[in-house]
Amino acid sequence: MIIKQTQFIKSSTTEAQCPTSDSPEFAFIGRSNVGKSSLINLLTNNQKLAKVSGTPGKTQTINHFRINNQWFLVDLPGYGFAKVSKKDRANFEQYIREYITKREQLTCLFVLIDSRHEPHAIDVEFINWLGEQGIPFAIIFTKTDKMKPLALERNVEIYKAKLLEFWEELPPLFLSSSAHKLGREDILNYIEEILG
Ligand code: GTP
Ligand code: MG
Repeated sequence: MIIKQTQFIKSSTTEAQCPTSDSPEFAFIGRSNVGKSSLINLLTNNQKLAKVSGTPGKTQTINHFRINNQWFLVDLPGYGFAKVSKKDRANFEQYIREYITKREQLTCLFVLIDSRHEPHAIDVEFINWLGEQGIPFAIIFTKTDKMKPLALERNVEIYKAKLLEFWEELPPLFLSSSAHKLGREDILNYIEEILG
């Protein structure tokens, strides 16, 4: 997959506001600060496309980026961010869930997991909810540059075992590091395969 063209289209806070287009959408979700926006910049090779910040809660809207004038990458806000007010948080989570369940163009949701940590209940619950809703998804372990290879392998194995407590099959799994520019080819090839 060669990315020839990227264009920011719009930020939305409801599914209804999202671009009126039938093009397939590949969206990125996960806890605040996991590296969603950084990964979009890695995939598009454009460090300035999605806004990145060391402070959790940076992305607060649904952001559509048009790729090669054919499909979209969608940057979503993070979940589980404790520092926003309860009301804002409920509101956030409501529109993220609305986007995920209503958006017919959503072709694959990439769930990002920080490779440094063992499974968090909030991630496992979210993944289980996706499975129950029948949403097509894949998992990307981020920030692998911060891990030694054996420790990384161990955490991935622990994650797989956790998911297999609930599901018979594992979703596609990817490893990434935006800092070391790793994982780009695998993820883009996967998207290309789906686009056919
Ligand atoms: P929210 O929009 O707040 O939900 O966060 P996000 O998931 O979009 O994370 P973002 O891409 O803004 O990155 C958060 C922080 O993690 C930033 O300081 C990034 O530089 C850093 N970061 C992201 N990806 C990586 C990575 O692969 N390796 C390392 N070492 N740091 C990373
Ligand atoms: Mg972000």
